[in-house]
Amino acid sequence: MDTPHYSLFLAITLATLFVVVILLYLVFRIIQKQQQFLRLQRQVVKVEMATLEKERARIASDLHDDLGPLLAAIKYRMAVVTPDAEREQKELDVCAGHLDEAIVRLRQVTHNLLPATLERRGLVEAIQDLATSTEQLHPLKIELITDLCEPLSKESEIHLYRVVQEGLANCIQHAAATCFKITLSSDRRALTLQLMDNGIGISKNLLTEPQRGRGIAGFRNRATMLGGQFTFYSEPEKGTVLTFVIPK
Ligand SMILES: Nc1ncnc2c1ncn2[C@@H]1O[C@H](COP(=O)(O)OP(=O)(O)OP(=O)(O)O)[C@@H](O)[C@H]1O
Ligand SMILES: [Mg+2]
Repeated sequence: MDTPHYSLFLAITLATLFVVVILLYLVFRIIQKQQQFLRLQRQVVKVEMATLEKERARIASDLHDDLGPLLAAIKYRMAVVTPDAEREQKELDVCAGHLDEAIVRLRQVTHNLLPATLERRGLVEAIQDLATSTEQLHPLKIELITDLCEPLSKESEIHLYRVVQEGLANCIQHAAATCFKITLSSDRRALTLQLMDNGIGISKNLLTEPQRGRGIAGFRNRATMLGGQFTFYSEPEKGTVLTFVIPK
């Protein structure tokens, strides 16, 4: 190559290199900004969820500490009333029945807001409790399969419990299913929670139309908060499978 050609070749090579470096720098900056944005978004969701859990705990203890004793006191006072007529006794019996029902419902609501078993005995037993109490109320067969032995962080436990709670609620409200299977497994690298029902399946439109409820959005948020992923698979009349993979 003679000198003028060589200089031109060198100039083009250098210019190309310069453009490539600039492009690489720009791509790097965009990725950096995106990561920053995702980190920020995750922090916002984290604060929102923590506030929600705190608020739930406050409502649960208000209900438990204020309304619980009040209902118990009414029940006690009613028991010492001696009515004059048989009709009055019947009315009192009906009221006592309603009161018992209110006490049971209050306990259920309080428990849903802040599951005591989760605090005391951990995720697996809390899910088992939830399954047992749900089976008593609904015609649904619930199966829990797990090989999880190690304890999880409190944060992971509460998120995973809320996911199971919402998955089960969705199954009862929307799926018309007869079976609900909860699988909680773990290996060296990740923890996998899978919720499976044999119901009507989630409509495909739901993937494109704006979110109607808060459940599915909550699944995504909770998975993101734990640094994991949420996916779902569903076919009409063949049920729904929700999968959460959370890194350890
Ligand atoms: N297991 C399921 N089987 C069939 N359809 C489902 C199932 N889970 C969810 N869906 C459908 O997806 C929609 C969105 O669910 P999502 O939990 O986000 O909201 P929602 O249950 O309607 O309201 P919210 O959870 O806020 O009370 C539901 O309205 C229902 O149509
Ligand atoms: Mg829901």
